[in-house]
Amino acid sequence: MNILIIGNGGREHALAWKIKQSPQCGKLFVAPGNAGTSLVATNVSISVDDFQKLGKFCVDNSIDLVVVGPEVPLVKGIRNYFEADPLLSKILMIGPGSEGAQLEGSKDFSKQFMLRNHVPTAGAKTFYANQSVEASRFIDECQPPFVLKADGLAAGKGVIITSDAAEAKATLREMLEEKKFGEASAKVLVEEFLNGIELSVFVLTDGEDYVILPEAKDYKRIGDDDTGPNTGGMGSVSPVPFADAAFMKKVEEKVIKPTITGLKKEKIPFKGFIFIGLMNVKGEPYVIEYNTRMGDPETQSVMARIQSDFLELLVACAEGRLKGMKIEIDSDYALTIVMASGGYPDQYEKGKEISDLEQTHSARVFHAGTKLQNKQVLTDGGRVLGVTGKGKTLLEAQTKAYQTAKAIQWEGVYFRKDIGDDVLNLLINQ
Ligand code: AMP
Ligand code: GLY
Repeated sequence: MNILIIGNGGREHALAWKIKQSPQCGKLFVAPGNAGTSLVATNVSISVDDFQKLGKFCVDNSIDLVVVGPEVPLVKGIRNYFEADPLLSKILMIGPGSEGAQLEGSKDFSKQFMLRNHVPTAGAKTFYANQSVEASRFIDECQPPFVLKADGLAAGKGVIITSDAAEAKATLREMLEEKKFGEASAKVLVEEFLNGIELSVFVLTDGEDYVILPEAKDYKRIGDDDTGPNTGGMGSVSPVPFADAAFMKKVEEKVIKPTITGLKKEKIPFKGFIFIGLMNVKGEPYVIEYNTRMGDPETQSVMARIQSDFLELLVACAEGRLKGMKIEIDSDYALTIVMASGGYPDQYEKGKEISDLEQTHSARVFHAGTKLQNKQVLTDGGRVLGVTGKGKTLLEAQTKAYQTAKAIQWEGVYFRKDIGDDVLNLLINQ
């Protein structure tokens, strides 16, 4: 079958790499892709939200399955667009319609969904643009730290956590009155702070049944020891030791099942990924957020551990046949280090030549912000590469990943030096 993956990050390179291994994979395209995806697929220069061009490409190239990587086309309704066009409506798709994508696209929608469906989450109150004064007063009733969340999509920057009440009030004013995040902060949630360890859980669902993919831990801050500003993610590890069978059973019973049942009850069709960001608070799972796509750079570590034919699972999902499907997962560890442009997540330069990519490395190299120019791979984004090491032990996976990260160079390259250290410490102290 012919497949189109939409997106251009490390997530999409990892998805393309995994899908390509299936005997069922015919022609594989990525729109718009990066220098890495062009090694396993054909890149198509169409942007992720140009539905008209994407639709025409699918018809012209007899595409059977579309896998939507990022959230923006989902929230903008790519599924609705395809379903409304008789020429496109038969094409299988991984990714929910715009209503299901609201689980990610609106933090207020997802909070109310969780509360209605008894999914454990932090308590929160929503304030509208004209309620800045009420929001400020509410801060006086809350205990620090204060968690402020822009309702809409804000590219991972819409959450502000501060223990300073004056700063919280000033930020609320900026968000609500001055539209710090544009329309995304037309509504803001003030949320209870959850103290615990974070975990990303990934579920593939056809709206009736589900398969749980390997879990992962993400490293969101730019600096070692979780310091500095938030990023899209600077590394990932899978498996996560505290996500043992007993904890995952709680996640399944208290979070996954009520989420799927809630979608059914509320008649929200959903064929795609649900990425549940959760906090382990004293052994109990609380949902921080839903995303309606895979995570980046979690996908790189997750795909490295899936042994089953992933395309077969995706097709079963898109056809509503997930019931009884099993997934085989490698017990080995996978660890991904994101190599970024110096300056990211603030200003950074692009167009730097990346050296030593072609040699054989001890870890797999997934591209993110890269482009090919005259056969030379250049940096073309903030997060440039993800290197994924695998090993029987976490230390082995970490060692291989760092060997590779250190061997690849460009001017200004930056990566965290402590990916996996916290998990190694947990393992040592267990
Ligand atoms: P989000 O965009 O919702 O994933 O939030 C970004 C990050 O903020 C999360 O990964 C958490 O580290 C942190 N965060 C969000 N909500 C809370 C909360 N209620 N309590 C503690 N940390 C939170
Ligand atoms: N790594 C977090 C995300 O993809 O949202």
